[in-house]
Amino acid sequence: MKLYIHTPALLPLYDLSDKVVVVIDILRATTTMCVAFQTGVSKILPVSTPEECLLFKDFDFIIAAERNAQKVGGFDLGNSPFEYENPILAGRNIAFTTTNGTKAIKMAKEMNPASILIGSFLNLSALCNQIIASKKDLVLLCAGWKDKYNLEDTLYAGAVINQLLQTYEMRDDAALCAHALYTQHAGDLEALVRKSSHAQRFTLLHLQTDDVKYCLQIDTCKVVPQMDGNFLRVK
Ligand code: MLT
Repeated sequence: MKLYIHTPALLPLYDLSDKVVVVIDILRATTTMCVAFQTGVSKILPVSTPEECLLFKDFDFIIAAERNAQKVGGFDLGNSPFEYENPILAGRNIAFTTTNGTKAIKMAKEMNPASILIGSFLNLSALCNQIIASKKDLVLLCAGWKDKYNLEDTLYAGAVINQLLQTYEMRDDAALCAHALYTQHAGDLEALVRKSSHAQRFTLLHLQTDDVKYCLQIDTCKVVPQMDGNFLRVK
């Protein structure tokens, strides 16, 4: 099988039919989604805007919104994975909007791939096992930051590629670069990611939790969220 790396801005140039798409937003949307489902959340509805997300409060949804790395005022939750460890979330439905992650999911959905999976370091091996079992070509969709490249999503794409080398062939230079970046820094991912623009954003915002360290845990989560209609669920 073949694998490719794309970013949201360029995604419309490609054909996703019969491909598995993995949406990657390591800091923090896809990490947070994995934690939510590990906690027992029933389903997550990716939503485009905070205004639209607010509408779901009246329909027994928990509403969650992040913009520019900060929780949006008036919402139940933001986008720190620590918030989603709370057992009161078990069995609940969440309407969720983030700056880049939910936008990438909805863009991919519009293009009707075979499946849309959610990837993070937390569910790395569970995700790779599911990719291999699909026997389909693969697109690693790095959400980035406002259509700019970001380091941590590409680093993670390299980690996925490193687990798939026996099964998939890299079909573009973006994949070759991602794998080279990962193999060069696999021994200390945190040191590299702490230099990233998003980690610096967290520092400037005086984030109260160490979300960078949390989002770099490997294989602490066994669930692989995937799109089922308009909702993310764990099958
Ligand atoms: C995003 O979706 O852009 C990120 O997850 C933003 C964040 O949570 O800091």
